[in-house]
Amino acid sequence: MFYDPDINDHGLPYNPIKGLVVPRPIGWISSVSAEGVGNLAPFSFFNMLSYNPAYLMISAGCKADGSKKDTVLNIEETGEFVFNMANWDTRKKMSDTSWIDDSKIDEMKECGLTPARGQRVKVPLVKEAPAHMECVYHKTIELPGHDPESVHHMIIGRVVMVHINDDYVGGDGLVDICKIKPIARLGYMDYCTVEEVFSMKKKTVEEKLTPKIAAK
Ligand SMILES: Cc1cc2nc3c(=O)[nH]c(=O)nc-3n(C[C@H](O)[C@H](O)[C@H](O)COP(=O)(O)O)c2cc1C
Repeated sequence: MFYDPDINDHGLPYNPIKGLVVPRPIGWISSVSAEGVGNLAPFSFFNMLSYNPAYLMISAGCKADGSKKDTVLNIEETGEFVFNMANWDTRKKMSDTSWIDDSKIDEMKECGLTPARGQRVKVPLVKEAPAHMECVYHKTIELPGHDPESVHHMIIGRVVMVHINDDYVGGDGLVDICKIKPIARLGYMDYCTVEEVFSMKKKTVEEKLTPKIAAK
């Protein structure tokens, strides 16, 4: 099958598009408003863009009235945010923080999560999260939408501090990702966890050249 995503003539009961680029990591983003009110919300249009230096991006749609979501406003106004990693243990609270869209309510407090101090930014970290990245605002890219709610603001931030809970660093010095069990978004109402990992070695230059040499 094929369909035009601007018309959505797929004939299926639900739009399949968000289930086709998966799993999408979840950026559980804390920020603070210019008035000092804390905010916490999950975003699965989220990813790391580079590592040296490290940049992250979040892409947020608009509220029903076409205004920017609190996360976008806060980051643009204060220039700071924190990525908190969501995992199996925090999955329910992560979901709860997405339902509160009243900018006067601090989701971290409301959902019984513990704020922890950062090193470089004033925005609190979610203590219960296994890893965090403190970020400073870099820029916003506006993506046009078919209606006011679907206009997206892609926020790019530069990572200025990384935190990892030592309980998840193994004796080999590697982060034990299966112990963390991060969660990620699939399509529909579905999520997955990272519980099994496989490795593949990079080829050496000689190994990459071998087939060409052999063909001569
Ligand atoms: C797992 C999950 C992923 C989400 N991903 C996004 C996303 O990528 N972009 C978006 O605009 N909203 C996303 N949402 C909805 C927001 O979390 C929700 O609109 C939230 O209230 C925004 O909060 P804010 O207005 O405080 O920024 C997601 C919700 C959940 C539960």
